[in-house]
Amino acid sequence: MQADLAVDEAEQTLVDRSLHQRWLTEGPNCKLFQEKLIELTGAKHVFFAPNGTLAIFLAALALEPEHGDEIVVPTFTFYGSATAALFAGFKPVFVDADPETFNARPEAFEEAIGPRTKAIMPVHIYGQSCDMDGIMAVAQRKGVRVLEDAAQALSVRFNGRHAGTFGDVGTFSLFSDKVITTGEGGVVVTNSEQLADRIRLLRNQGRPHSGTFEHPSLGMNFRITDLQGAIGVSQMEKLASIRKDRATKWRLYSEGLSGVGDIRIMRVLQGSDIVPFRFPFLTADRENLANSLEKAGIQTRGFFYPMHLQPKLRAAQPQSLPVAERLHAQGICLPVHVHLSDAQVSDIVGVIRKHFGS
Ligand SMILES: Cc1ncc(COP(=O)(O)O)c(C=O)c1O
Repeated sequence: MQADLAVDEAEQTLVDRSLHQRWLTEGPNCKLFQEKLIELTGAKHVFFAPNGTLAIFLAALALEPEHGDEIVVPTFTFYGSATAALFAGFKPVFVDADPETFNARPEAFEEAIGPRTKAIMPVHIYGQSCDMDGIMAVAQRKGVRVLEDAAQALSVRFNGRHAGTFGDVGTFSLFSDKVITTGEGGVVVTNSEQLADRIRLLRNQGRPHSGTFEHPSLGMNFRITDLQGAIGVSQMEKLASIRKDRATKWRLYSEGLSGVGDIRIMRVLQGSDIVPFRFPFLTADRENLANSLEKAGIQTRGFFYPMHLQPKLRAAQPQSLPVAERLHAQGICLPVHVHLSDAQVSDIVGVIRKHFGS
């Protein structure tokens, strides 16, 4: 466990004020945070959830899967994308990633859609958007719903439109390594009145308002606290500088590492913003490089272990999705967090260049 570096006195002040007002449950800070998220994303409706995984669960429940309904999910994603859909009642069907952008392509979704497919789940990985024009065209042609997992993509736009707002419903994570954080937290967005009504009931014990014991619908408790709302408001005020800071690190890493050894940096899709979640790249020498960096005191992260290989998710018949398997074998992520200075980024680049003798 380690201290959360993304917060400082600004969050402290708003949390203190919230405690002073003796308001702990969802209240004025959550309302303000919600308004700021509506303004940022352009979504008509914004709801909170306790974390990004439960946000996906809530969004998937709102799509009302019936027994045997399938959802097409990229195999190259975080475990929670697939398990949340599974617990909500969907059968996940996995598709491979694009070797350069690491996101699943429209064609991959199209090929995997079958008679039982009710929905598809584009996941916007590492701070860039999927090709949402292509994916929405496929969804419309095939008549399937779209649940976007934008856990890593708050403030990422594709051709000017915010990730998570193209499909029927979208979700974000506010975990501590995300673009902005409330420690734990999740967000669900939708432009559909019907889905918004359903989500409102699902997240508040099947009733439109608290304080009554008549529950016209099924539901559970997905509420958050106003202390998280206060932290969220403060984080939103820092968003522009967070984006700028991450963009600078992306540029420094890209300039310093292009053409070094066999390194292949993630390609950013034309039309998409990049608000880097980390700095991901591929090298056949991943393990040795991670060791060199570790010895220099630099922590790295690997890439996702593909969903189609996870013991509790893999199909009865072994499935081969070679791109995601290669990404896992060769992928390495460098840090981009706010307390990493530009000079430290240059040092990291130096260690990598030395490792490759360039
Ligand atoms: C793509 C993706 N989906 C879902 C999640 C789950 O979010 P949380 O950790 O807030 O539950 C994450 C978290 O890392 C993620 O990266």
